[in-house]
Amino acid sequence: LFAGPCDFVAAVPTIDRLPPFSLPEVAFAGRSNVGKSSLVNALTGRNTLARTSNTPGRTQQLNFFELNKTLLLVDMPGYGYAAVPKTEIARWKRVMDQYLSGRVTLRRVLVLIDSRHGLKENDLEELTIFDHRAVSYQVVLTKADKVKPGALTRVWEETKAKLAKRPASHPEVMVTSSETGQGIEDLRASLHLLASL
Ligand code: GTP
Ligand code: MG
Repeated sequence: LFAGPCDFVAAVPTIDRLPPFSLPEVAFAGRSNVGKSSLVNALTGRNTLARTSNTPGRTQQLNFFELNKTLLLVDMPGYGYAAVPKTEIARWKRVMDQYLSGRVTLRRVLVLIDSRHGLKENDLEELTIFDHRAVSYQVVLTKADKVKPGALTRVWEETKAKLAKRPASHPEVMVTSSETGQGIEDLRASLHLLASL
């Protein structure tokens, strides 16, 4: 599907440094350490393209990657706890807010949720902001390899139920593992569709 090259485009620390509009964009959001950068790598098939870490707060800028001249993937900093100073977190948040509310080429935000935890209060707050701004988003469960199949089904059903009445939410909840590759091909296919809209 995205067989061609995938390249790093830009690391954006402040809103005036955004790359010019070119391709449709998909942004990756979610709590710190949920697996955003790992998912970008799994999708591109390149393990070291986006930097990952055990320490929450690894990604500190908006990192743009171009996928086969088709789509830009935007790896964002996480929300919630990060092992960095509060002033830094406030700075990222400003850049993300500006990006998320004013980017005409942004097609969808993938909101990543850890399969072990499901939707938490700060995730719901984030979704409410997207609903109010009519920013279209889709929830993706991550780290599916960390839970037993029965528990995974439960959290998937629970998540879908919690999203049912949210106007900007895509009804389909994807299940992925960057570790085993579960769900990666399906997610690629859905991004491919988005890119062609
Ligand atoms: P920040 O940039 O700090 O917000 O984190 P992030 O959301 O980009 O998470 P990152 O991709 O850096 O992954 C955090 C940790 O989770 C790393 O140690 C990854 O190896 C691990 N991880 C990510 N995805 C998976 C997965 O699908 N399965 C397992 N078992 N571990 C994962
Ligand atoms: Mg990251």
